[in-house]
Amino acid sequence: MSTDAVTIVLPAVDEPAVAFGTPAGRLILPGRALPERRIPIRPCLISDLTLSAREAATRAYAPYSRFAVGAALIMADDPAERIFQGCNVESASYGATICAERNAIQSAVAAGFRRIALLAVSTAAPADGPVEGRSPCGLCRQVIREFAGADTLIVLDSGAEGTIGEIVDVDRLLPWGFCLET
Ligand code: THU
Repeated sequence: MSTDAVTIVLPAVDEPAVAFGTPAGRLILPGRALPERRIPIRPCLISDLTLSAREAATRAYAPYSRFAVGAALIMADDPAERIFQGCNVESASYGATICAERNAIQSAVAAGFRRIALLAVSTAAPADGPVEGRSPCGLCRQVIREFAGADTLIVLDSGAEGTIGEIVDVDRLLPWGFCLET
């Protein structure tokens, strides 16, 4: 496969705020303004990480849900571009379960890195099912946001014939994600 980068162009978003007058007071649906984003990426990284996420899913420990998830990522601040993998690891106490995405991110952070370049997620959901079956849960979105930059991309492996899956950035994955101004 070619090592030339392709440019992923994420279109601008311009949604004005909407206000609703109610007897209890004014309510506002916040607006969203995102610039067009042009993010170069090497296609071989997408295929390597997708395969790696699929492989990680085979090691999922999911005796309760029987829903295997794998994640694989590379960090933008890792010149060696090593791949960190994660799978979901469930617990009999359910709440102690860790998702594949956070498992992979925590390994990368523990290795000293801080910014995700590309994250691939692969789930057991059917290839022709809705994207919600393969997109990260709310907790994982917030953690992805913690370690994402404007050029971080997230690929959701659909396993569908002839398609890798969906691609998003963190602003689209988690609109209005919580952020402490530090
Ligand atoms: N799961 C993940 O690993 N990642 C997600 O983003 C969604 C859910 C796991 C947790 C649990 O082990 C199983 O999928 C079913 O929820």
